[in-house]
Amino acid sequence: MAKLGGTFSIGGDLEIHRLGFGAMRLTGPGIWGDPEDVAECRRVLARTRELGIDFIDTADSYGPYVSEQLIGEMDGGRAVIATKAGLVRHGPERWLPVGRPEYLKQEVLMSMRRLRVKRIDLWQLHRIDPKVPRDEQFGIMAEMQRDGLIRHLGLSEVSVDEIEAASRHFRVVTVQNEYNLITRKSEDVLAYCEKKSIGFIPWYPMAGGVLARPGGVLDRMAQRLGATTSQVALAWLLQRSPVMLPIPGTAKVPHLEANLKAADLTLTADDFRALDAAGKQESQRAATG
Ligand SMILES: NC(=O)c1ccc[n+]([C@@H]2O[C@H](COP(=O)([O-])OP(=O)(O)OC[C@H]3O[C@@H](n4cnc5c(N)ncnc54)[C@H](OP(=O)(O)O)[C@@H]3O)[C@@H](O)[C@H]2O)c1
Repeated sequence: MAKLGGTFSIGGDLEIHRLGFGAMRLTGPGIWGDPEDVAECRRVLARTRELGIDFIDTADSYGPYVSEQLIGEMDGGRAVIATKAGLVRHGPERWLPVGRPEYLKQEVLMSMRRLRVKRIDLWQLHRIDPKVPRDEQFGIMAEMQRDGLIRHLGLSEVSVDEIEAASRHFRVVTVQNEYNLITRKSEDVLAYCEKKSIGFIPWYPMAGGVLARPGGVLDRMAQRLGATTSQVALAWLLQRSPVMLPIPGTAKVPHLEANLKAADLTLTADDFRALDAAGKQESQRAATG
């Protein structure tokens, strides 16, 4: 458990264990409002500490503010906290990009207050706002880093072209795109991240879709290995690339403990290839309808 998938150095100077925790689920239904069981959410955060997790991902928009607030109360600056801004909320499951530089700076200052830190370890632009010139959004990120509000900068849901455009303003140290066994649209971005030693944070990491259904390749492999489908999906991610930093999320302690056991699971080369091929095929099938 303690090895947590080995380590990765964010920006070359912030060493973390590769298997982290995603704190989006420490909120109400639709990632809106307070969690139904806030005491259990506090226990989840306390357990991350006991289990040695030292990388937690959150965002101002989770709640909004609820997830950051809980982390600020519980973590006390122990783990590396990655947060984000650039999406506003109009209700459960409603997310709208806002990238005005004045707004982004306010959100950074408010995240610092909620997280109770003097500088944010890793701040990621949640989405590039198509209504605002991207150089204005990248420009304020660089400025906030120069001013000492932020240590490292990252991006979310971006293409290689967008990473290169941002890199003209600051060093991009992480990219957070949806990626899992059956969602492979960011393979080119992952390859770019590997080449440049950029951390790749796959969100929705445990999805297995039809492969996880009874009789599917993921389900059958999990049964054979005495593991859960989530654990096998996470183990596959950890083996997929040394820059992969999965952040599985949950609001339940037993799920947290189960997910972390993925770090103890090593897939054979044959099992890895079989899953990889089935996942690619499923991703292509879904893309072409
Ligand atoms: N950049 C972005 O745009 C973006 C978008 C989405 C997410 N994220 C980040 O990525 C993190 C992970 O993404 P995610 O939460 O969508 O996906 P996930 O971690 O793959 O899945 C979380 C879901 O799986 C359930 N779950 C977790 N462990 C389980 C287990 N052992 N058994 C059964 N169910 C389990 C959780 O419910 P329970 O609470 O009941 O366990 C929750 O519904 C988030 O926390 C967030 O930090 C980023």
